[in-house]
Amino acid sequence: MAFPETRLRRLRQTAVLRDLVRETTLAASDLVLPLFVHAAPGRVPIAAMPGVDRVSIDHAVDDAGAAKDLGIPAVLLFGIPAGKDAEGTGAYDDEGVVQLATRAIKAAHPDLLVMTDVCLCEYTDHGHCGLLREGPHGLTVDNDASVELIARTAVSQARAGADLVAPSDMMDGRVRAIRTALDADGLTDTPVVAYSAKFASAYYGPFRDAADSTPAFGDRRAYQMDPGNGDEAVREALLDVEEGADVIMVKPALPYLDVLRRVKDATRMPVCAYNVSGEYAMVKAAAAAGHVDERAIVLETLTAIRRAGADIVITYHAKDAAAWLQ
Ligand code: PBG
Ligand code: ZN
Repeated sequence: MAFPETRLRRLRQTAVLRDLVRETTLAASDLVLPLFVHAAPGRVPIAAMPGVDRVSIDHAVDDAGAAKDLGIPAVLLFGIPAGKDAEGTGAYDDEGVVQLATRAIKAAHPDLLVMTDVCLCEYTDHGHCGLLREGPHGLTVDNDASVELIARTAVSQARAGADLVAPSDMMDGRVRAIRTALDADGLTDTPVVAYSAKFASAYYGPFRDAADSTPAFGDRRAYQMDPGNGDEAVREALLDVEEGADVIMVKPALPYLDVLRRVKDATRMPVCAYNVSGEYAMVKAAAAAGHVDERAIVLETLTAIRRAGADIVITYHAKDAAAWLQ
């Protein structure tokens, strides 16, 4: 039956009717708040990301507590170390900034989940996500040597108390290497959140300023995915499932909603979307200029990411969104 018997506007008449038939919900319990923790005192604002600061460990403990009080179940930690070197040793230092921050946050807020970003780019002096070696096309990131250090980083973070580890390096085989290393260390219950379909994206620009992780030369296109590829994203996700991933991530979120849906349908795994720094910066800039209603646009965006297939959304809007949803 079509019009006039069928009138889809019948269920749109009032807020209570619309609430009754809404397919996709958004709650604070779906959100993860990223935190940038530096090995320095105090708070330093990040110019392109109003409302987001680089923070010392004690401030990170406070920010984590504020997130928890708003009903946000997890924070995602990024570290900015005091010094960098070619091998990114700060990443797998048991007394590294993320390890110390993890211990401090877990001690203060045992019920809040701490997720840690597993990568070398914030710790290498060249800014790439792994170890460099000379290859047939010039300097390149050595996959297998990097995977070893990535696995070491994950174990060090999990030993420090990380509830979930999230590798973002895009080396082949790192999920299995991390799973094997965690299990060998008795950390069989630490889930791996795999950045499976991570695209080489201009939307990471503000993050790289925040984390001081811009590559000193070249770009990340020899390891992160080409933005044109959807089939390959599904292959990446399926491989990570096979390697033992517990959660599959798609990143960025908004320009890749089709990929999110395809990955969800192909894997039926818990899927996480990363609403990245550039997505945040654009919304904040447009809102500050008065061009959009920030609250409305953030809640619509996060709902759309959920509708596309994300069970979990990592977003710098987490605290604002959680407050608005209360
Ligand atoms: C590091 C990493 C990046 C992001 C998360 N982990 C940057 C990159 O790959 O260059 C981006 C997050 C954001 O833009 O919010 N591998
Ligand atoms: Zn990296």
